[in-house]
Amino acid sequence: MAIINNGKTFLLNTADTSYAFCINPQGLLRHLYWGRRIVHLQDFEDIREPGDNGYYPRVDRTMEEFSSFGMMRYKETAMKLRFADGVRDFRYQVADTQIQDDMLTITLTDEHYPVKVELHYQVFEADNIIKKWCSVQNMGSEKIVLERLYSGVYGIPGNGYEIINYNGQWAAEFKRSSESLNGGKKVFESLRGSAAHVANPSFIVHKNASEDNGDVYYGALEYSGNFKVTAEATPYDYLNILIGISDTDFAWVLESGETFIAPAVYSGYSDAGFGKMSHTMHEFAINQLAPKVLAKKPLPVLYNSWYATIFDVQSKNQMNLADKAAAIGTELFVVDDGWFGERQDDFRALGDWYVNEEKFPNGLNELIGHVNHLGMDFGIWIEPEMVNKDSDLFRKHPDWAYQFPNREILEGRNQLVLNLTREDVLQFMIDFIDRLLSDHNIAYIKWDMNRAVGETSLDGEDIDEMKEVWVKHTQGFYRVIDAVRKKHPNVEFEACASGGGRVELGAMRYFDEYWPSDNVDALDRLEIQENYSLIYPIKYMRAWLIDPSEDKRKRQVPLEFHMHCAMCGSLGIGNDLNGLSQDQLDQIKELVVSYKDIREIVQFGRLYRLCNYKKDDIQAVQYVKENRTVLFVFLIHMKYDKEYYQVKLKGLHKECIYDVEIHGKHLKKSGAYLMNHGIEVKFAGDYSSHLISLVECQA
Ligand code: GLA
Repeated sequence: MAIINNGKTFLLNTADTSYAFCINPQGLLRHLYWGRRIVHLQDFEDIREPGDNGYYPRVDRTMEEFSSFGMMRYKETAMKLRFADGVRDFRYQVADTQIQDDMLTITLTDEHYPVKVELHYQVFEADNIIKKWCSVQNMGSEKIVLERLYSGVYGIPGNGYEIINYNGQWAAEFKRSSESLNGGKKVFESLRGSAAHVANPSFIVHKNASEDNGDVYYGALEYSGNFKVTAEATPYDYLNILIGISDTDFAWVLESGETFIAPAVYSGYSDAGFGKMSHTMHEFAINQLAPKVLAKKPLPVLYNSWYATIFDVQSKNQMNLADKAAAIGTELFVVDDGWFGERQDDFRALGDWYVNEEKFPNGLNELIGHVNHLGMDFGIWIEPEMVNKDSDLFRKHPDWAYQFPNREILEGRNQLVLNLTREDVLQFMIDFIDRLLSDHNIAYIKWDMNRAVGETSLDGEDIDEMKEVWVKHTQGFYRVIDAVRKKHPNVEFEACASGGGRVELGAMRYFDEYWPSDNVDALDRLEIQENYSLIYPIKYMRAWLIDPSEDKRKRQVPLEFHMHCAMCGSLGIGNDLNGLSQDQLDQIKELVVSYKDIREIVQFGRLYRLCNYKKDDIQAVQYVKENRTVLFVFLIHMKYDKEYYQVKLKGLHKECIYDVEIHGKHLKKSGAYLMNHGIEVKFAGDYSSHLISLVECQA
């Protein structure tokens, strides 16, 4: 049974884990346990309660499952609200507990004020994931203002943990930050109206864990707006972790009867390091969160013409590129920015979503027909949430962009953000995307967002109501993408926000893939991809080959190395195909054929991060699905005369014999040999790489 309880103690069990809390003698919701599976409920009875002390009260000393500002709590708390008379102290009592199948709801009420807080849990038993979310309802007649509501609180006993998050920026997403938590608070936050590159709405907490060993506690928020992750090493020998909507510029006014629902957080525990955590999260995301229509289908190999033509998109040059893209075996041809309005550069035309007649004298359908005739699907780029000052849309509706009175309107990448709290703006967005998809045979949309949200104004006098804008903006974004996807369920959607600004589980609900970074340098990508893969699934990780000459660093990386790097995710090609020799095109074509053969294993297999080039000189990534395995190995710099590296595989059946295709030969090796002794891989110098494939040939 997923949930066992005796009315006071609650034990949430998944296949491998348990999560326990109780209503303690003081009526507090006390977190008891998170770790390996324990099914004996009685084990959690009679656990010593922390003492009380004037300056350091019990509410702080207790690892609470939910906490609210007030009652002499000084730790980071999950909620802060304000009653009409100015009281900001919520004194809760557990009013009800309900269990239905895999769902548990705990209802808290205040001893005096008419407010109801519900803590919801859903146990995904087979997936080893627990979903948590909460809601607050005003049960009285006077308004209540919410000033903070995290989605989940987690307590982990002990001290000296490390938290992993990211410290990134544009083209440098997923730069891992690993911080020791020995006192005080560590905060990861975004105030940009999206998850953004700077940090991720997730947490990974451990103590000396490795890929295969150690306890790892993790969670990821299903939300695409401002978020906050706070990890507080309390003096009371436990770690207090909170994750949810950022409270920095947040308020929500609850009028009589109204409810605010915080987004969900999905959390898990691994007793076998980061590897098991990634397997759990990857499989859960694809099985439970990804939009169903395309969730189990592998993504097509795409060609995107952005780097080839930038804003100089013309029907003719796109047809020419399409011919070449088809010849190398790509399945989806994508026209990026530059096809609409007077979009000659990034200073103008965002918002003018009509096909530019000079660029496409016979309309877009001529190009689409050509692309389809070549056997490829057609895809296109849009950036619906934005507008340029120099656009018909802004000239017609200057009030549709966020702006403060008495302030000059600020631009980012020369653009402004549309006010997604307005019905007319949302309707405009839904209508233009619907029209685009209805009038053309479009199979894929790359949805971009190239500046951070700011100057978020809302009409009105009430400062609390104005602060609702961030959440309402995110809700507006969901309304548009939801409406469009419902009308066009078979169209594939990619989430891009200047690269990886929308890699989070809220976007996953509506999108089929992410663009993790505009940085497509092969070496940087190895790092970005490794860190991305801790939580987020490989299928969602679009990875392209582009011409190194497009890269500022002009790093000369062999085409095969770059291709292998892109083949570690959902492959795309972004080169100017006119700038490649026939030999290079033939080489890409051959590798595209290899990729199609292995893509199910890469996109849906179990990922093993075997070696990291900063520690081990080589990078090695392995994918296992059913009876097949794929291994990519990369040598960055040859050191001394070392040509051979021993790579130990993982996740194989030790009794099985595998046919190993390596260096143009077939070897027969047992799983035990491959995992314990490893295979020898020979490298040909700097930036050499291999794709090695294995298949079980004998049980
Ligand atoms: C952003 C995206 C790029 C490309 C450009 C187009 O930078 O991340 O991939 O689409 O916009 O303007």
